[in-house]
Amino acid sequence: MKKEFVKHRFFWDLYAPIYDENRKHEEYLRNTNLNILKTYFHPGQTLIEIGCGTGIEAEEMIKHGCKVILTDVSFEMLKVARTKVGSNAQLINLPAEYIDSFKTKFDGAYSSFGVLNCITDVSSFFQKLHSILKPGSLFVASFINRWYWGDFIFFPLGITNYLKKRLKGWGYITLDGKEYNVIARFYSLNDIKKFSKDYFTIKKIYALPFLLPPAYLKPQERLPKGFFKLLQKIENLINPYFPFNYLAERIIVIFQRS
Ligand SMILES: C[S@@+](CC[C@H](N)C(=O)[O-])C[C@H]1O[C@@H](n2cnc3c(N)ncnc32)[C@H](O)[C@@H]1O
Repeated sequence: MKKEFVKHRFFWDLYAPIYDENRKHEEYLRNTNLNILKTYFHPGQTLIEIGCGTGIEAEEMIKHGCKVILTDVSFEMLKVARTKVGSNAQLINLPAEYIDSFKTKFDGAYSSFGVLNCITDVSSFFQKLHSILKPGSLFVASFINRWYWGDFIFFPLGITNYLKKRLKGWGYITLDGKEYNVIARFYSLNDIKKFSKDYFTIKKIYALPFLLPPAYLKPQERLPKGFFKLLQKIENLINPYFPFNYLAERIIVIFQRS
């Protein structure tokens, strides 16, 4: 049987050339994620990014003053990332499942926008990540949540059908309405806590987002500007608190290596 990451490689290679254009509507979430990364990581630190995609965040973190090693299972993603980071960073074609291949220990790590949802054995990933991080260093990860409150509204209204996939715990990834033979798994915060507990403690948890509609509903295009800004203000006040962070569409977790 093909390893899951081989299927992912095929899919993400295909997606790479159109990824940036296709994900523009995510910008309001991207900014929140980047602000959080810049709060927890400091200039001068050497970080490893897992599943860097087209290098959107690495480019910003390099500007922030960090040294970033970019890794991804997809060679085509790395090719696009190279056009952003130039010769300022090292890029390595490496599945997260082999992240312990490094002999160095890093000052921190991050992994954004659902890379964890592409991994089948997340416990083993945390164990491997632990082995390449300095004690006390941080890992900042954002992932798609299994329990999003909005699903229970959007599904009966016929707006989205994510509820079915999330209840099942996994679903095939779709791109422009076409379903591919690649699986994304939906993890709850409790799953992630269980997978990471032997290797990391959790410092903080943020919603991404709870109140603002998810990116796939394109709220920035559809909602009046003033209303969107108001929701954004409220979102920034509530996003680190229970129950908002547990029931968000995506979740950002700040882990500290034990
Ligand atoms: C939704 S994209 C996120 C990309 C990037 N982190 C971002 O914020 O835009 C998921 C990324 O994870 C990568 N990926 C999927 N499975 C992987 C694995 N097993 N190991 C490493 N990278 C993986 C894909 O190639 C893709 O670039």
